Amino acid sequence: MNEIEYLKDTLRKLTGFDAEHYKERPFKRRVRVRMRARKVESFKEYAELLMRDREEIRKLLDTLTINVSRFFRNKETFDFIEKHIFPLFPDGLRIWSAGCATGEEPYSLAILLMENRKEKNSKILASDIDENALKKAQEGIYPLLSFTETPDYIKNTYFMEIEDGKWEIKESVKELVEFHCFDLAKIPGDFRDFDIIMCRNVLIYLSREFQENLIREFHRRLKDGGFLILGKVEMLVGDTRDLFYALEPKERVYRKL
Ligand SMILES: C[S@@+](CC[C@H](N)C(=O)[O-])C[C@H]1O[C@@H](n2cnc3c(N)ncnc32)[C@H](O)[C@@H]1O
Repeated sequence: MNEIEYLKDTLRKLTGFDAEHYKERPFKRRVRVRMRARKVESFKEYAELLMRDREEIRKLLDTLTINVSRFFRNKETFDFIEKHIFPLFPDGLRIWSAGCATGEEPYSLAILLMENRKEKNSKILASDIDENALKKAQEGIYPLLSFTETPDYIKNTYFMEIEDGKWEIKESVKELVEFHCFDLAKIPGDFRDFDIIMCRNVLIYLSREFQENLIREFHRRLKDGGFLILGKVEMLVGDTRDLFYALEPKERVYRKL
C-alpha cells in the first residue's frame, strides 16, 4: 500500500469517510493544506497524526468537505424554478437538497415556496455528510456574507437581525426543512419520489465514476418527469445524458425521461 492509500485507509477506519469517491488531485491538495498547518512532511506521518489527534480529524474533514454556500446562490436558477417549474405543481412539491452544507440552499427553496404559497403541501429534505455544517443549518444564524445574492426584502421578511451583522432565519421557514446526515454513497431507502433534486457544487469534488453512479441514483429517486438541478459548473456525465432531457442547459436543469 502506498502512502496516500495508507492515509485513505486510516481515514476510513477512523471516521467512515471514504476518500475513494473523491478526485485524487483535490484530495491531495486539501490534505497538504492540513499537513502544512501541522508541519508534517509525508502522508504517512499525517496518517499517524490523525490516529492520535481527534481535533485534527475534525479539521481535515472540514477541509475536505468545504461547505461554502449562499442564499439564492446563482439567483437565475431560483428564478427559473419559480417561473417554469413551480407552476407545474399546483398541489405542492417534494424536494431534496443533496449536499446542503449549512442550509442556505434548502432554506432558499423553502422561502421560494412561501413566496409562491406552496409551502402547505410541500416538503424539503436536505442532506449532507458534514455534521458540523448541519448543526449550523439547524441553528439558522448567518453572517451578512451569506446574503450577497438575496434581495433585501427577502432578507428583511424571512430573517431577524439578532446582533450586528448576524441574521437568524424565522421559525416558519425552518419548519419546512428536514435535515439528515449521510454520505451520498449510502442514500437511505426512503429518499425517493422527488419532484426536484437539487445537487449543486457537490459533483465537482467527486470522481467521475461516482458522479455517474450518483446521477443514476438521482434518476431512480425522482418521480417520472421530475427535475434534477446541478451546479453552474457541473453537468451530466457519460451515459447519464440519455436519462434526462436538458430543459434549461444554462441553469443545469434536467428533466427525467
Ligand atoms: C460547496 S457545498 C455546496 C452547498 C450548496 N449545495 C450550494 O451549492 O451552495 C458542498 C457540500 O457537499 C457535501 N458533500 C461532499 N461530498 C459529500 C458526500 N459524499 N455525501 C454527502 N455530502 C457531501 C459537503 O459536505 C459540502 O457541504
